Amino acid sequence: MNTDKLILRTRFVERACHWFMVICFFAVALSGLSWFFPSLNGLNAVFGTPQLARILHPFFGVLVFLLLAFMFTRFVKYNLLEPQDRLWFRNIRQVLAGKHEPALQVGKYNAGQKLLFWGIMALISVLLVSGVLIWRPWFAHLFPIPVIRIGLLVHALAGISLILLIIGHAYLAFWVKGSIRGMLTGYVSRRWARTHHDRWFRQIDSKADAGKGGE
Ligand code: HEM
Repeated sequence: MNTDKLILRTRFVERACHWFMVICFFAVALSGLSWFFPSLNGLNAVFGTPQLARILHPFFGVLVFLLLAFMFTRFVKYNLLEPQDRLWFRNIRQVLAGKHEPALQVGKYNAGQKLLFWGIMALISVLLVSGVLIWRPWFAHLFPIPVIRIGLLVHALAGISLILLIIGHAYLAFWVKGSIRGMLTGYVSRRWARTHHDRWFRQIDSKADAGKGGE
């Protein structure tokens, strides 16, 4: 691939972590959904058998948490809310209409992506804590029954919320052409960067002019 006209957006280790985590997340989400209604029971075939699904769901859940914790350390600095993000919120109609003029001073991630980032991190933390509370046979016996009941409710609500959030995240990733390719290859075009993340593009450009290259 000729990368002369492209900009590195996401490094290999971050992409590998994201896509491995997506596979694990799907397995955990489908097996989790399979326990909501009898009609969804078939979904636990994702782990082979219902028994395996029951055993592996929590272990894979912890793995998803650890992979997201790693992503947190790599991405948090780009996801802190800044004063310029107000402009994106104020012009949300323009964003939804797919209009890119005037430029909205968008950094590496836009305000919506930042909210999503914090939503994902908050929900996975809630899932981890509530998941440990209800994890039989390892930890559940350490807690009184009412606590386990509340844990079950919180775990189910947080699980549904995270699945809905991820459906939105995946939809938007397909909606913004070039995003998925960016997360697969690591590179985006200069035009993509200028159109969707103008402030980030200017920073990259000025670093390149100063001979530092950029991410
Ligand atoms: C089919 C499912 C998914 C697709 C197509 C997808 C696609 C993408 C793409 C294209 C990006 C890069 C966005 C950009 O460069 O502006 C991204 C970033 C990200 N994704 Fe996904 N993703 C999926 C599932 C998930 C899941 C299941 C999670 C977590 C539970 C997740 C968490 C993240 C995070 C934390 C980022 C970094 C965004 C930020 O720092 O603001 N993704 N994803």
